[in-house]
Amino acid sequence: MKIEGKEYRTIWYEKNNVKIIDQTKLPHQFIIKDLKSVKDAINAIKIMEVRGAPLIGGTAAYGIVLAIQENNDPEFIKKRAEELIQSRPTAINLKWAVDRIMKKLSGINSNQILSIALNEAKEICDEDEKFCENIGINGLKIIEEIYNKKKDTVNILTHCNAGWLATINWGTATSPIYHAHKKGIPVHVWVDETRPRNQGANLTSYELNEEEIPNTIIADNTGGILMQRGEVDMCIVGTDRTLSNGDVCNKIGTYLKALAAHDNNVPFYVALPSSTIDWDIKDAKDIPIEERNSEELSHVEGIDENNKIKRVLIYPNKSKAMNLAFDVTPAKYVTGLITERGVTEASFKGLKKLFK
Ligand code: MRU
Repeated sequence: MKIEGKEYRTIWYEKNNVKIIDQTKLPHQFIIKDLKSVKDAINAIKIMEVRGAPLIGGTAAYGIVLAIQENNDPEFIKKRAEELIQSRPTAINLKWAVDRIMKKLSGINSNQILSIALNEAKEICDEDEKFCENIGINGLKIIEEIYNKKKDTVNILTHCNAGWLATINWGTATSPIYHAHKKGIPVHVWVDETRPRNQGANLTSYELNEEEIPNTIIADNTGGILMQRGEVDMCIVGTDRTLSNGDVCNKIGTYLKALAAHDNNVPFYVALPSSTIDWDIKDAKDIPIEERNSEELSHVEGIDENNKIKRVLIYPNKSKAMNLAFDVTPAKYVTGLITERGVTEASFKGLKKLFK
């Protein structure tokens, strides 16, 4: 998608390095950063220079390529693969991508290993782009249906960043929105700020602005009253891990949005590529929920009057804070899952029908 009119993907390989858009600097600075080693890739995932389930999967795949470039000893690669998987615990795409690439490399001799890993990392990213495009084509039908009834702007609420910056391109939750906009359907997006890291305000709103899609940032707690007032036609969110029973793990606060949507008969959709489905864990209680540094709550970052990025403390010095990064929305509150293969009910039956 576009930044200042120029088309980008979120990650690419060039001259032995991996290039990323440093998301810790957005929206105030647009910086392309080089990842030169597997340690750089692990760090980029940990400190959220790259973020969003599909993008951290793609970064982990390229992380293996960087590891092989440094040292193609199988033990070294295996160790780095494990560290990549551990770099963030909740999004299943990370493990999915590392397992896929490691499986491809098993039994391959050392002079071929780099080119095979590179091809597979590219394939993982190209596939994600295609899947997200298809999510858009499938989700467009839902937006179109609402528009045909309403004959007026479709108001869509989203939480966190499940836009193209969280994937390789198109996004998951935003892909149907981009497709609707391209088709001339008037859409407006309510963008949840998404405390504490403000992915909605810093990333979703930024990327929608760049694509000239009308959007309004709201505090996380505003969605409920907007739904009561009939000002939300549908919600679309992304997910970091969806269980085969349809339970959806996503950015903290998603569950409360789903409850409000349920109470107000607002359709609540979750958009995801199949790489985000966890077919193994059966009980949501077993999903590892990441707890991040409490400084993400107690400090905020922005630019000052001299255009310098500044970080300030907003809590009492002595206060403690706790920072759980994800929650789980039970399948019963999910109207449907929008996948690359179609829209289905959030259940084992529904998912199994699409993904045998
Ligand atoms: O902590 P983050 O910024 O990596 O979390 C991102 C999200 O929760 C997204 O909504 C998610 O990955 C959806 S998939 C595009």
